[in-house]
Amino acid sequence: MKLNETVAIVTGGASGLGEATVREIIAAGGKAAIIDLNEEQGNALADELGDHAIFCKADVCNEQQVTDAMDACVASFGRLTAAVNFAGIAIAVKTLGKDGPHPLKLYQKVIDINLIGTFNVSRLASERMQKNTANEDGELGVIVNTASVAAFDGQKGQSAYGASKAGVAGLTLPMARDLASYGVRVNTIAPGLFLTPMLAALPEEAQEALSKQPLFPKRLGKPAEIAKLACFMIECAYLNAEVIRLDGGIRLP
Ligand SMILES: NC(=O)c1ccc[n+]([C@@H]2O[C@H](COP(=O)([O-])OP(=O)(O)OC[C@H]3O[C@@H](n4cnc5c(N)ncnc54)[C@H](O)[C@@H]3O)[C@@H](O)[C@H]2O)c1
Repeated sequence: MKLNETVAIVTGGASGLGEATVREIIAAGGKAAIIDLNEEQGNALADELGDHAIFCKADVCNEQQVTDAMDACVASFGRLTAAVNFAGIAIAVKTLGKDGPHPLKLYQKVIDINLIGTFNVSRLASERMQKNTANEDGELGVIVNTASVAAFDGQKGQSAYGASKAGVAGLTLPMARDLASYGVRVNTIAPGLFLTPMLAALPEEAQEALSKQPLFPKRLGKPAEIAKLACFMIECAYLNAEVIRLDGGIRLP
């Protein structure tokens, strides 16, 4: 799908990897609806990017709010051709720690936002996409999800986060199979360590230690590098049902 013909909703689009992807889509001539809970950053970004961007405050887990955001996208740009799922949260809590077992509510919250939120947005987006006119490749839409390398080599304290991201990786193939007859592709990015507000909050020594972990190059990833892969997943009509690690060869210890 050509980027300049893309109308994307980008969840988590107000910050970090999502923000970089919104910028990349718009720089290539596409349009984007930023879906996020952070109203201040979302509105500021949409204002900065002009009339190819709108901001819609919505919780990815909330059916009505996501439906309203998609309605706003279609009202502004006429259609919805790509759903790019970046909204997510990360926690570090052990299954059993000094304060007792992992609080169940917190576990459920991570699964809700990272996994069920991704599924909620994708299922509702696919319904909109089936109304599009097919392009020359027969495509009606494309879905890009975000897992993490923690889906495969999760560390201590990541039983919730790792499981949520393994769920996102695991839904990629069945969802691609479900949506193939509708002309919708589904792919997932599994990022390594990227310098976003999530990691920038860590002390400098911690950032430095993390930046030594990739094989090569020995640095944290740049959000623009994820944005390029997200855009490639939108553009490349032959890429489907794939989970791609983008991580400088890192394997978390
Ligand atoms: N930064 C990394 O190194 C890294 C590594 C692997 C995976 N990831 C994944 O990439 C995605 C983006 O991460 P980031 O580093 O850009 O984080 P970030 O915190 O900068 O951005 C996440 C955005 O998601 C939004 N959000 C959170 N819950 C939401 C909800 N329920 N509904 C709508 N919006 C919600 C937040 O407001 C925020 O703007 C996440 O899914 C994260 O797990 C990040």
